[in-house]
Amino acid sequence: MHESDPTSQSNYLQIATKHITFDWTIDFDNKVITGTATHELVAKIDDLSEVIFDTSYLHIEGVKVDGDAVQDFRLGPKHEVMGSALHVPLPRTLSAGSSILVEITYRTTANGTALQFLAKEQTQGKTFPFLFSQCQPIYARDLAPVQDTPSVKLTYSASVRSVLPVLLSARRISPPSDGPAHDGKIIGKDEVVYTYDQPTPIPSYLLAIAAGNFQYRSFQVPDGKQWKSGVWSEPELMDSSFWEFSRDTASFLAAAENLAGPYRFGVYDLLVLPPSFPYGGMENPCLTFVTPTLLAGDRSLTGVVIHELTHSWFGNGVTHAHASHFWLNEGWTTYVERVLLQIIHSPAHRGLSSVIGHKALLDALAFFEDKPKYQKLVIDFDYGENPDSAYSRVPYDKGANFLLHIERTLGGLEVFLPYVKDYIATYMGHSITTETWKNHLYAYFQKNGSEGQIKALNSIDWDAWLHQSGLHLPVEMEYDLTLANPANALADRWYESRHTTDISKLDFESSDLDNLDANQRAVFLERLESYNESLPAGHLFHFDKLYTFSETLSTEIRFRFYALVLKSQAAIYFVQGAANWVIGADDTGVIKGRMKFCRPVFRGIFKANPNLAISTFRQAQTQFHPIAQSLIAQDLGLVGLRVGG
Ligand code: BES
Ligand code: ZN
Repeated sequence: MHESDPTSQSNYLQIATKHITFDWTIDFDNKVITGTATHELVAKIDDLSEVIFDTSYLHIEGVKVDGDAVQDFRLGPKHEVMGSALHVPLPRTLSAGSSILVEITYRTTANGTALQFLAKEQTQGKTFPFLFSQCQPIYARDLAPVQDTPSVKLTYSASVRSVLPVLLSARRISPPSDGPAHDGKIIGKDEVVYTYDQPTPIPSYLLAIAAGNFQYRSFQVPDGKQWKSGVWSEPELMDSSFWEFSRDTASFLAAAENLAGPYRFGVYDLLVLPPSFPYGGMENPCLTFVTPTLLAGDRSLTGVVIHELTHSWFGNGVTHAHASHFWLNEGWTTYVERVLLQIIHSPAHRGLSSVIGHKALLDALAFFEDKPKYQKLVIDFDYGENPDSAYSRVPYDKGANFLLHIERTLGGLEVFLPYVKDYIATYMGHSITTETWKNHLYAYFQKNGSEGQIKALNSIDWDAWLHQSGLHLPVEMEYDLTLANPANALADRWYESRHTTDISKLDFESSDLDNLDANQRAVFLERLESYNESLPAGHLFHFDKLYTFSETLSTEIRFRFYALVLKSQAAIYFVQGAANWVIGADDTGVIKGRMKFCRPVFRGIFKANPNLAISTFRQAQTQFHPIAQSLIAQDLGLVGLRVGG
């Protein structure tokens, strides 16, 4: 196992950034950001003569150290994954503890992955262009020269000149969020300087920027809270965005505070992105990014908001040291997200979420059948290996189940939650490894627990959970099935009917679904999909006639329906519909850019009709985010294809 970050070429163990000041201009015509990044760094060793930054697809124009131009900086050879290291020789050697200012003047290029500049046609309003970033896991280096490792935490401040409103993962200094949009100037024409400050140290992957025709509406916050909360979106989506999130966001955050301690970022806003946003949500500090597919009109997908705001403690507060320990971010967040579901709703809701997660985990483990290394919770990455290739539900759901198993082994939530508080308080603001986490767990129960609890900890098969691959969890888990049962029962009834050849004898009705909410419907579809045998085509046509899943606007339901039918004899009848849907060549009109949806649908199409999958992808490829493009291309066997930009 690498001790140091396997994805960074920077010399962050010798010297580390404490603060960055950005001075940026967004150039929408050329789709680049130009400006400077000024690092304040502190040496960690004596006799230090060089700083090395990560960069990728950046054009470096000049470097100054403590105000004086440095001529002999150099960009190293480009590594396919890690980019080009920027070497800055120091005019004087540093001793441990001393600091230095390094100002880099640069511009981004169109080939980078971090920034997606969208044409106005790709937005909701179709009037203004749009820009958003995605820096996790290793793309901050495409936005700015940084030590691109979560082991380094920095504060930042920024001033950004732009003809469209700008949002950053930081606190707005000026103009005020609740003042007139774009400071009352003409949107799309007048330049306004936006200034921001992030006073809480964050890892580089949480740097984030968005620019577009944004409006803001604030949420009501419980009495006595010092933080603010609200939503940003294009004006056309403001009413639906506000409706979807205004009831729950602030109360979810308050519930998380009760569990994990005070919220430290001052502002918790949501930003609704265009359809090409490749994730469900991204926990950018002060400003969670969310996919527009959360706007379901029934608040059924606000679980994603619970997940993202939970990262404020797990990930943004206590951070994984590097990619091998990524599960500390996502496994912990998913575990706590489900505890919050139990607290906010009921134990049955925690159970339902666990059931959905377990299916996703089994799918992910099966997907990596030929890559067992990625079935492990702690992944031993080679130096320069791409963490995006390993991205799956494994760190989320193996991680969350591991913590649930530990919770139960120790005696339940009552014992575990005080430990969770202590864990957070101990490592808040730090970046840690799995070993540090485990040592603290033992130390906590040695100090605060019983001999029986230490025995219980010793009974856990640590190696199996942390370091073994395999198609199943090391321990079979039980969940509260109160909400899953009715969904499973309906699925079982369908499955049992599979030998009935006369469809008119089938005893199903549209109203079967009346008592199942959106998440239960998902479980229903997944249960049907996971039987060894598919339903006959005739059954599936009847099924769709009753339930109209092939027309639902709920992406969560629609992609599961396609997963079910594309594996069956009915695939040839549904495959074109799936292809049209995923690229928006249907009445939805928008691509399904969230990777959770488009990747499995493209894979399903590919299994049923490889040529259709490839031609569909080629037709709409550039509409997808570069990360999605690259992973879909891999899934479709189009390796060697250069994507991005
Ligand atoms: N931090 C992740 C998204 C991410 C992970 C981006 C790794 C890039 C690299 C975010 O918190 C997340 O987990 N999103 C999920 C939400 C879901 C689990 C509720 C997603 O997008 O599906
Ligand atoms: Zn997450």
